[in-house]
Amino acid sequence: MPPSEGPPSEGPPSEGPPSEGLLSDDEHWVLSYYRTSEINGSLFFGRLARTLKPSPIQHDLTKHFADEAQHAWYWTDCLERLGTRPIKLSDAYQDQYLEAAGLPANLMEIMAITLVFERRVINQYAKHLAVPDLRVEVKKTIERIMRDERWHVQWVRDALAGMGDKYGKDNIAATLRRFKEADREVYAQTLAEHEARLGFLLDSRPNPQED
Ligand SMILES: [Fe+2]
Ligand SMILES: [Fe+2]
Repeated sequence: MPPSEGPPSEGPPSEGPPSEGLLSDDEHWVLSYYRTSEINGSLFFGRLARTLKPSPIQHDLTKHFADEAQHAWYWTDCLERLGTRPIKLSDAYQDQYLEAAGLPANLMEIMAITLVFERRVINQYAKHLAVPDLRVEVKKTIERIMRDERWHVQWVRDALAGMGDKYGKDNIAATLRRFKEADREVYAQTLAEHEARLGFLLDSRPNPQED
């Protein structure tokens, strides 16, 4: 199959007329960055899912990593619809985040780091949705992804709530605070590092789900 056709998929429908004009370099880079981050998320959660014993968490984490893999495909497909291909990028948000936060030591910490990260993802996509005159392909891709991301936040939050007896509620709250701090730090660094490319997102409406 020629690479331009891609596999059959239930990717975002391309309703409405295609957007006019080529993607700017900044948009091209940002959408490629999202794709790389989704791939990293899928690989991270996939590896984790492989280590878990049968349990509700094993079930949900498997759906979770499958979703993230789909999201990487949606961005690939979206870029294709916009007449281009993803840029090959070496690092993603997760790499720096894990470096700043430290590797999670147990399942509770994994859930906590995931919750903070998934909130960041929703926040970032919401900011992007607020950019004026967004291309229809990008808007539909983000909206579709966000439906899954909301479920990610929900199941992880529920899983954490069920861990209070085993790990202690105060300990869980302290862990969440620690990872939130790391996330804020890394996000600020990311914005500073890629200020020129992400500048078009900076003036967007702040998201109420920030904390
Ligand atoms: Fe995702
Ligand atoms: Fe997610």
